[in-house]
Formats: sequence, structure tokens, C-alpha cells
Amino acid sequence: MIISIANQKGGCGKTTTAANLGSLLAEKHKVLLVDIDPQGNLTTHFGISKADLRYTIYDTMLNGKIEQAIIQKDGVDIVPSTIDLAGAEVELTGKIGREYILDNELKKISRKYDYILIDTPPSLGVFTINALVASDYVLIPVQAEFFALEGLTQLLKVIDLVNSRLAKKLKLLGMVMTMFNTRTRSSKEVFEDVKKHYSKSLLKTVIPRNVTITDSTMAGSPVVKYRKNAPASKSYIALAKEIERILKVK
Ligand SMILES: Nc1ncnc2c1ncn2[C@@H]1O[C@H](COP(=O)(O)OP(=O)(O)OP(=O)(O)O)[C@@H](O)[C@H]1O
Ligand SMILES: [Mg+2]
Repeated sequence: MIISIANQKGGCGKTTTAANLGSLLAEKHKVLLVDIDPQGNLTTHFGISKADLRYTIYDTMLNGKIEQAIIQKDGVDIVPSTIDLAGAEVELTGKIGREYILDNELKKISRKYDYILIDTPPSLGVFTINALVASDYVLIPVQAEFFALEGLTQLLKVIDLVNSRLAKKLKLLGMVMTMFNTRTRSSKEVFEDVKKHYSKSLLKTVIPRNVTITDSTMAGSPVVKYRKNAPASKSYIALAKEIERILKVK
């Protein structure tokens, strides 16, 4: 089961969601996390020192051999990323079949895993396309702030294009509301808006805005490992259960 966490809108909770879901699923399953964002935030989230890395997703995208980029950290396998990846975008320009690089690489190792989660950058460029093409499902975090809906139509169109033009069977796993603030009207309004427009896709679990997330990221650990009883942790635990339930019936 390969799941991309995607939304070209920046800072909507993609990396936080990938890190926490990955950590939780790894309690019972074999999990691989793939960081395909030049920002390398998922890599940082697990407290991985980028300077010490021999191979990263950059090498995978240019030379294949994904196995050699996999490292183990806190119960999950991770393909890390650094800013080097930004250079790969230009190097891949014009390369035939560049949309399928990650797909082909993951095919070699996917048997070893129950779940592979891919954290994508805030754009609809070559890396996000690689992630979508390699995936069975896409999970879209939506920040409970104004303008959150902007770009969702475009993202859904890209999913359709991947299916029609690149002959894939990518399915929408759902949209998850993140950074929900119970005290602001805007959070509630955005939630209602998403519910109105995408009622079938909106997941039941809502992730609250919670400062413990910032603390845990600085400590180099997903919040569910850092403080299991924090409000955000409880919500991510509920989200992992909801997703497992959905995937069982799909
Ligand atoms: N539920 C939350 N409560 C409070 N802060 C949060 C929450 N979720 C994420 N954050 C913080 O918001 C910021 C953006 O989150 P995150 O990095 O997960 O988003 P992203 O979509 O991956 O961003 P980018 O598009 O840059 O990759 C981070 O500083 C993160 O610590
Ligand atoms: Mg991110």
C-alpha cells in the first residue's frame, strides 16, 4: 500500500502527518517513509543528521538503487532527502520517463513493506508527480485556515491526469483537516466549507492546532512518540485507525 501525502499549498501539515502516521503504522506494520521534498523536513522530523548521509533520494532519482538510500530510525525505514534534491529537478528535465522513476524504484522493494508513505514538496512539479505515479492512494492535508481550498481543484485535476495520461489507478484516500483551532471562527468556517464541497472525501478525524507539535519537531521526534497524550497525538492515533479502517474495505 503506497500512499502519497500531497497538497501543493505550503505548510498545511503534510510532513507532520507523514511522520506521525508513519510512526503509528510502524507499531504493527513494516513501514517505509520516503522524503521527496528538497526541504528534507521529514528527514529532520526524525532527528536524522543530514550531513552524515551517504545516499539520499537525490541518488535514487538520478541513479536508482533505492535500497542503498534506506536508513533505519525509530522503528521505521526512511529514504531521506536534503537540499541536493533541488538540483535533480534540472538534471531530470527532458529525461524520458522521468515521471516513473520513483514508481520503478519502489516496485523493487515494495514487497518488503506493508505501508510506504511519501512526503511531497509544496508544488505540483516532477517530485510530486513521481510520488503520485508511484502511489495507490493520496492523502490530502487541508489546513483549517482561509485560502485552504485554493488549489484543491487543481490538485484533484492532477490526480485525474495521472490516471488518464499516465495510466495509473491512483485513488483519493481522503482529505484531513489539520491545525484546527476550536477558538477561531475561521477554522469552523473552513471546515464547513470543505465539508460542503468535498463531503465524501473529508475524513472524520480532525487534527487540532497544538504547540506540542513544534516542541516535538525541535526534539527530532514525531509528536506521537514525543508525548503520546498530547491532543495532536490522540488525533493522529485516531487518524491512523480511521485510515486503516478505510483501507480494509477499499
Ligand atoms: N497540528 C499542528 N499544530 C501546530 N503546529 C503544527 C501542526 N501541524 C503542523 N504544525 C506546524 O506547522 C508547520 C507546517 O507543518 P508541516 O511542515 O507539517 O507542513 P507541510 O505541508 O509539510 O509544509 P511544506 O509545504 O513546507 O512541506 C510546521 O512548523 C509544523 O511544526
Ligand atoms: Mg513538508
